[in-house]
Amino acid sequence: MLYGATGDLAKRMVLPAFYALATAGLLPEDWWLVGNGRGDDTDEDFVDRVSESLEKFGPGTASGPWDTFRTRLRFAGKGFTPDDPGQLVDVVEELRNGAGQDGDGDGAEDYQLVHYIALPPSTFTDYTRAIGAHGLDEGARVVYEKPFGTSPDGFRELDQAVHEVLDEQQVYRIDHFLGKEATQDLHVVRFANSLVNGMWNNDHVAQVQIDVPETLGIADRAEFYDETGAVLDMLVTHLFQVAAEVAMEPPASLGAEDLQSAREEVIASFRPLDPSEVVLGQFEGYTEIEGVAEGSTMDTFVAARLWVDTDRWRGVPFLLRTGKELGAGAQTVSLVLKDTDGPLRDVPAAAGALRFSLAGDGAIALSMVVKDPGPGLGLTVAPTTLDLADVEGGEALPPYARLLHDVLTGDRSLFTRPDGLEHVWEVAQPLLDHRPDVIPYAKGSMGPQEALALAEPGTWFITAESDA
Ligand code: BG6
Repeated sequence: MLYGATGDLAKRMVLPAFYALATAGLLPEDWWLVGNGRGDDTDEDFVDRVSESLEKFGPGTASGPWDTFRTRLRFAGKGFTPDDPGQLVDVVEELRNGAGQDGDGDGAEDYQLVHYIALPPSTFTDYTRAIGAHGLDEGARVVYEKPFGTSPDGFRELDQAVHEVLDEQQVYRIDHFLGKEATQDLHVVRFANSLVNGMWNNDHVAQVQIDVPETLGIADRAEFYDETGAVLDMLVTHLFQVAAEVAMEPPASLGAEDLQSAREEVIASFRPLDPSEVVLGQFEGYTEIEGVAEGSTMDTFVAARLWVDTDRWRGVPFLLRTGKELGAGAQTVSLVLKDTDGPLRDVPAAAGALRFSLAGDGAIALSMVVKDPGPGLGLTVAPTTLDLADVEGGEALPPYARLLHDVLTGDRSLFTRPDGLEHVWEVAQPLLDHRPDVIPYAKGSMGPQEALALAEPGTWFITAESDA
């Protein structure tokens, strides 16, 4: 069941991800995708919408399994609320009857129900209650988009409402940064290579940077963005989860439960943000965009210095930055290495770094200080990059497809957990209570100048393309 099936998120992300799984042969043998929305589209209308989405945001329908895929699409319209199931319950019954299933959720003969709520967080409670009220909760899995709540109280109320209907094991809270190939390599490369594992601590790392500047604007979703801003859209969601991936203690195994626990537990050691270590910005011209409230002070940029109070990371700043309309686009996690004490003089400062690029298929780069070739003992900095797309083996899945596959197979390792999120809000609380002034910045810059000071004595690695 895809709620919000005619909406923007479904069109851009969820439907193409579903098709990517079909193309890769990763869907179960017998499946149906039932779209739900407030309208009363026919199945054919929905097929047309899915086809448009694949043309625009996927591989198109000319190749791949489209001819069979389209026959598995149904639309159950007229909304879905606790009081009124619209057409959904009837469609589910019809599909179950057609397959000779009794729908009691107790056996292999039943369809595994997956509810995907591809809608804003304000709707989550009602959809969850509707799933319970119409008896579609038994054995089902429910996928929630991020952010899971938009304030500490909102999170708690939502979490309670969700657990009134579902067990935690049924809940899949998506944070698609966790589904990126290179994000998964943060734990794989670390735990599979003793060289990397050995340097993953404050003896060797001077600074961690999680830097996600974006050149994109917000014009195509101004209303959503003006209610959300960079702190909620990116900082306390994607960037905190990636910080937890870096900061976590070794899990007992890389199995789903252990990995999820290790990542979510370390968030309890994030020190609550000090607002004097956070810079908020807004790009010039933001308030003139249609859909943005007059005089809005919403942040379109945030840079923050985060401290992780564990023995492993004490004293190492985690520098987090993201923003819209910036002068460069990147999704980079850098472990900046400490300078060495030793016999070599004049080693360039902060030159050694291990960097993970999370964008696209992902890449891992190592920069090292090496001898400048030739006579003498000059030193130079040399980077080397491993593009994950060039690694021989299977095909990478886009993050949404990867996570959807995990939902279908019941693997919760790359999803967030309420204890982690409870701590996320504790860490964010001082910032929400004492929001620094939002500083204007020019489009195409790297945000307010004030953000540069946060990285001192180092510097942010990613600079505006115009400065490169
Ligand atoms: C989304 C945010 O979750 O992630 C967007 O809402 C952001 O504002 C996007 O642009 C970035 O992720 P990706 O992986 O799609 O580039």
